[in-house]
Amino acid sequence: MPKNKLIFCCQTCGTLYPKWTGQCTGCNEWNTIVEEAQTTQTARYQGYAGTEVQIARMADVTLHDEIRLSSGSQELDRVLGGGIIMGSAILIGGDPGIGKSTILLQTIAHLSKNLKTLYITGEESPQQVTLRARRLGLPEQHVWLLADTHVETILTHVKKEKPRVLVIDSIQTMHTSLLSSAPGSVGQVRESAMQLVSYAKQTETALFLAGHVTKEGSLAGPRVLEHMVDTVLYFEGEQDNRYRIIRAVKNRFGAVNELGIFAMTEKGLREVSHPSAIFLSRYTQPVSGSIITATKEGSRPLLVEVQALVDQSHMANPRRLSVGLDPQRLSMLLAVLHRQSGISTHNLDVFLNVVGGLQITETAADLPTLFAILSSFRNRHLPTDLLVFGELGLAGEIRPVPGGQERLKEAAKHGFKKAIVPHGNVVKNEVDGMKILPVQTLKDALDCFENI
Ligand code: TYD
Ligand code: MG
Repeated sequence: MPKNKLIFCCQTCGTLYPKWTGQCTGCNEWNTIVEEAQTTQTARYQGYAGTEVQIARMADVTLHDEIRLSSGSQELDRVLGGGIIMGSAILIGGDPGIGKSTILLQTIAHLSKNLKTLYITGEESPQQVTLRARRLGLPEQHVWLLADTHVETILTHVKKEKPRVLVIDSIQTMHTSLLSSAPGSVGQVRESAMQLVSYAKQTETALFLAGHVTKEGSLAGPRVLEHMVDTVLYFEGEQDNRYRIIRAVKNRFGAVNELGIFAMTEKGLREVSHPSAIFLSRYTQPVSGSIITATKEGSRPLLVEVQALVDQSHMANPRRLSVGLDPQRLSMLLAVLHRQSGISTHNLDVFLNVVGGLQITETAADLPTLFAILSSFRNRHLPTDLLVFGELGLAGEIRPVPGGQERLKEAAKHGFKKAIVPHGNVVKNEVDGMKILPVQTLKDALDCFENI
């Protein structure tokens, strides 16, 4: 049998090489050259349909109802956009030990009640998987297991057994004979995923891929697969925290940035259906450097605590450290604070933290971040029933954010009595007994800070 011809291809500019090199001579980029299988080149890039296709008018395209299957957990259904669609490929990424295998096992056990399911384990033995399923009390009667990592062998089994739901745990352990590189390398991960995804599309099988996020960055991690699959879910939150957050970062069948919130218990991952207040810490005494904001990641508001610590720096370059918020945004806010109101932090360390391991990506966290920083800077605690949200512009203007009313209502439900909000977010109808303080500029906000 002739050996497959291997080719190395730059992922940025497409230059081909017969051997691997570190730097591409085509575009001068480093570490962009990845091994590919040349024999399958044409077959691989044939596209979705795989057969000859005709040009068609949009009006003539017939749609069939997509059936969404419940995963057995409302929170997971929510991030998937309402449930699992047959024929879709779903990637679940996250740090090792965060709960990927657990949630996949729970989901597949639920689905196995009505559908044929197959769980491919490349990391754990069938005994380990079974032991976990028994411990969690999952229905195991119709869950089929296969411990293998060779994609071609897996596909042979799959074609024979025809499961409707297929789980691959994890994609980094898979390898294909088309390439000679080690399992886990970019080429292997991509090539294996490509074969599995195209099988899923052709046979309307729901495919779940578990993928580890690599510590060194995203190179061999699930990021290289993001464009291939329909839905990308990432686990957030720290391992030592009880709560696990799943965020949809890409979804062809639903909204992105939707959050699903779970608690890791001794009985596996349990959904948290009313999560709005779980990220609040409970202080007996008010403390400085802490403020509560209402963030709207996804479709529901969550109350979270933003903490800041401002301290004398002993370094030439004072530290700016931010956990859960964009560090670039922090630098920008400090610059606006200095320029627009003369408060300088150039010789101070500034640390920022969002309690509970949540990542806030929206700009509504600008104003609470500033309040937390000022509160620590002045060593003055803010009222515990105060809520703050709003975006800060470079000119010191406070801009409205989406969903103001919902945020205020959620906070009112949890007993918050005052809110500092952008002027543009002030609502005509009262929010249950809440005193609303509108601010238009950074100066207004600072006045509010002094007088609250
Ligand atoms: P796991 O799903 O194996 O992580 P991953 O597949 O993402 O690497 O999760 C393992 C972690 O979850 C481990 O630290 C133990 C914890 N865990 C529980 O606390 N309770 C449980 O019921 C299970 C199954 C796991
Ligand atoms: Mg695992």
